[in-house]
Amino acid sequence: MARKPKIIVFGAGGHAKVVLDVLDQMGSYVVVGLLDDSAQLHGTTRWGYKVCGGRDQFATLQRRGITRLFVALGDNRRRQFVFEEAGKAGFELVSAIHPSAQIGGRVTIGAGSLLVAGTVVNVDSMIGENVIINTGATVDHDCRVGPHAHLSPGVHLAGGVVVGELTHIGIGAVVLPNLTIGRACVVGAGAVVRESVPDGAVVAGNPARPLRESEENRGT
Ligand SMILES: CC(C)(COP(=O)(O)OP(=O)(O)OC[C@H]1O[C@@H](n2cnc3c(N)ncnc32)[C@H](O)[C@@H]1OP(=O)(O)O)[C@@H](O)C(=O)NCCC(=O)NCCS
Repeated sequence: MARKPKIIVFGAGGHAKVVLDVLDQMGSYVVVGLLDDSAQLHGTTRWGYKVCGGRDQFATLQRRGITRLFVALGDNRRRQFVFEEAGKAGFELVSAIHPSAQIGGRVTIGAGSLLVAGTVVNVDSMIGENVIINTGATVDHDCRVGPHAHLSPGVHLAGGVVVGELTHIGIGAVVLPNLTIGRACVVGAGAVVRESVPDGAVVAGNPARPLRESEENRGT
């Protein structure tokens, strides 16, 4: 039997623990260790994996023939940054899909994206690169989820919903059909989104209403 390819996981927090479990359940890769930018973790062992260093290790790993990497960071902007840096360094950014995920026909899933246990992505939907579809979240038909977005556990997108890049939808939120949630938005936990949401907005509640404009849009 062919040897499984080696992979390094970037991130050593709670989200990384979930990613490691998905990779373990997939059984397609051998995880050789973890990386993290937090220097105090370097040299420590997390869940049996050594934290080998941070981005400074990219070249060394490549020389050792470790060419696949998964970015396991929950924060959308940090995940985007490391994803882009790892791409520039020449790593292949693989996706990680739990065996219990259900994926419909003609669905596309971008590089580096994660589908956790119990997720559903229905027919003709497009998931961008470096996206998190967290535990039990569902994306119905004809949705588009932009790069570096995060659908928290138990989010439900109805058919035809568009989610902009870097947007975070909080745990248990629901989005009604054919709406657009803009770029870099935050949707609060448990929200029911009944109208489209402009770029950078933070909304919460049922019906979801703006809490404030995002820091990005205020230019702070
Ligand atoms: C919406 C959210 C981003 C706001 O966070 P915040 O800026 O720290 O807001 P605060 O806690 O200061 O609350 C501000 C106001 O919004 C209200 N509010 C906060 N979150 C809310 C929510 N999910 N639904 C309804 N109202 C909410 C608060 O009650 C408060 O109201 P008040 O001003 O009348 O007292 C956050 O509460 C949230 O829901 N995050 C999602 C987290 C999540 O799902 N994580 C999953 C990771 S896997």
